[in-house]
Amino acid sequence: MQDISIMKTLKVSLGDRSYPIWIGSGVNRLQSCWQEALAPGRVALVTNDRVGPLYAEAIAQQLREWKFSVVVIQLPDGEQTKDWQHLNLIFDQLMAHRFERGETLVALGGGVVGDMAGFAAACYQRGMRFVQVPTTLLAQVDSSVGGKTAINHPLGKNMIGAFYQPAAVLIDTDTLATLAPREFSAGLAEVIKYGCILDAEFFSWLEQSIDALLAREPAALTTAITRSCELKAQVVAADERESGLRAILNFGHTFGHAIEAGLGFGSWLHGEAVGCGMVLAADLSRRLGGITAEQQQRIVRLVARAGLPVVPPKWPAARYLELMSHDKKAQSGRIRYVVLRSMGAAETSAVESELITEVIEKAIASGSDSGA
Ligand code: NAD
Ligand code: GLY
Repeated sequence: MQDISIMKTLKVSLGDRSYPIWIGSGVNRLQSCWQEALAPGRVALVTNDRVGPLYAEAIAQQLREWKFSVVVIQLPDGEQTKDWQHLNLIFDQLMAHRFERGETLVALGGGVVGDMAGFAAACYQRGMRFVQVPTTLLAQVDSSVGGKTAINHPLGKNMIGAFYQPAAVLIDTDTLATLAPREFSAGLAEVIKYGCILDAEFFSWLEQSIDALLAREPAALTTAITRSCELKAQVVAADERESGLRAILNFGHTFGHAIEAGLGFGSWLHGEAVGCGMVLAADLSRRLGGITAEQQQRIVRLVARAGLPVVPPKWPAARYLELMSHDKKAQSGRIRYVVLRSMGAAETSAVESELITEVIEKAIASGSDSGA
């Protein structure tokens, strides 16, 4: 039987849309979680052709034993599938099987499946019950919690979407065993982010536990994922629709999105770009007086130890500024950055482009210094 001794339960508090998050080894095999998560009747299990063969059949079979009827909807893998055409494939299946609003759509996969299936659930018959079963570290600590769902538009990532909260999130740390090391490191970037912006003590714990995390030790994983989800749940409960506080979750993302867009999406993983973006944002925070040089170096070291890049691509600063001007946080044409007020506390700030230029040029030069 599964080890449920280290299962944690959290709650995202959003009034009558509040929902549980269950975290631990073997959670996906727990009948009690599924019974609470699903509406009686049918389940549309949306996954992709990488995750499906690993986990969908076992889950479907178990649900059938518990008297649910399951239709598996398997999409191709990859960020390039997060578009209208593939979204429509989900609607085609829901329509063909005559799914009803009261039945449940389950997203089984990483952030791509979760975002796209979540948007499908938000739209289908104006909103059907939705459950997240994230299988990447990034999805377990970030994208499955908080209700942001979207597909990409050719002119912008995540531009078409909705806020639509799941009814429950099942986080089974066992699924991380099959995740590629690069994807695992990408997820660690978001974990490190929470320490930087919200919890200095958690940041110190991550420094001590990074080897255990890289070895994917279940107890360390459960602790890291639980604290990350707890912090994210607090932010989402306070500012569900990102009218203020929630923007701090984008620490490192403004620089990171510029790297992703400039290289072409998919060249660096999102988490890799965020890791490097946090290195830049840490230098910016130090220059603005929020953190010390020593704290800045601790962030750089932890990002590097997590297996993430710390030197940005060698482009002129003007290219970065142009790429960042499309950022969703820009206000009246001014780019806003998430910066640390201190270790474990963050705010957004409009910053002069001269300072950003210095930050970028120094980071690029640090790569030349070390021969990178
Ligand atoms: P992903 O979904 O593409 O997953 C990465 C790769 O790992 C894929 O090939 C996937 O099939 C595979 N995979 C997933 N689980 C696996 C497992 N257990 N074993 C083996 N392989 C597995 O990428 P991601 O990093 O999970 O998510 C990135 C997406 O999430 C982006 O589209 C991004 O925009 C979105 N995102 C959304 C939010 C949000 O709040 N909604 C937050 C952050 C990121
Ligand atoms: N990943 C950022 C957010 O959920 O707001």
